[in-house]
Amino acid sequence: MEKKSKELETAIKAALQAGKVLEKYFETAILKNEKEDKSIVTLADKESEEVIKKIIFDVFPDHSILGEETGMNGREGEYIWHVDPIDGTRNFANAIPLFAVSIALVFKDEIILGIVYNPSTRSMFYAEKGKGAYFNDKKIFVSKDEANHGMLTVSRGKANTDEKLFRELLYSLPKKVVSSVRDLGCAALDLVYVARGGLEANIQLGLNTYDFAAGVFIIQEAGGKVTNLNGTSWEFPENHFIASNGVFHDLLVEEVQKQIKKLTPSA
Ligand code: 2AM
Ligand code: CA
Repeated sequence: MEKKSKELETAIKAALQAGKVLEKYFETAILKNEKEDKSIVTLADKESEEVIKKIIFDVFPDHSILGEETGMNGREGEYIWHVDPIDGTRNFANAIPLFAVSIALVFKDEIILGIVYNPSTRSMFYAEKGKGAYFNDKKIFVSKDEANHGMLTVSRGKANTDEKLFRELLYSLPKKVVSSVRDLGCAALDLVYVARGGLEANIQLGLNTYDFAAGVFIIQEAGGKVTNLNGTSWEFPENHFIASNGVFHDLLVEEVQKQIKKLTPSA
């Protein structure tokens, strides 16, 4: 890639340092605490976020950082970093190596940089506006697979209505649309796996900006397609969307709409 920007260099440094924190705790008997929303948090989430914030604020003291564990930090300005210190905490806390550090930089509501790092496989995914997407410094592209060879993942937040649709999408999508549907438990990895071509699509229902901003942007830079569930153009920070390799996107929209109608009581 062309020379990395100072922002990207800083994000990579922060993700690598945070990754060291996660490696230190991974596969140890780490204490899990339940948050109000019943999701899990560990000491590693908090320590990782502190490390990331320090590295970013050292270089960009005027920017703001929205972190999952500490909320909005710094003055709310035009540059906001969306930071998930561990995406996939439940996997992490149960010694399953599907988790990642996710960092996106948003300028005036537009994502301009995204980075997702899984320390357990040392996989670093990143993208900058207009410069393409990269995995460990090699350019990546979405797959060209047709629908019936596709592998798709679904990720959901906590809303009850989303939970019902989530189950329908996991178990009711016809084989003619996708050959296999999974829930990996780490939204950021779901997205970068589409960007790298290992998955054909990921559908997200109600997650938070720090879970998906980096990954969605990396898919877009890798040549993929992201729309709202009804097929209209997606805009940050909308958190219900279909992200795919673009090959059978319209078919996916059609199937998702069918499932939504099934769940909507007729008037
Ligand atoms: P997390 O690990 O950062 O909490 C699958 O579990 C995905 O959903 C993960 O990306 C996870 O992010 C996210 N997630 C877990 N609990 C959630 C909740 N209560 N609301 C929204 N997203 C959640
Ligand atoms: Ca998290």
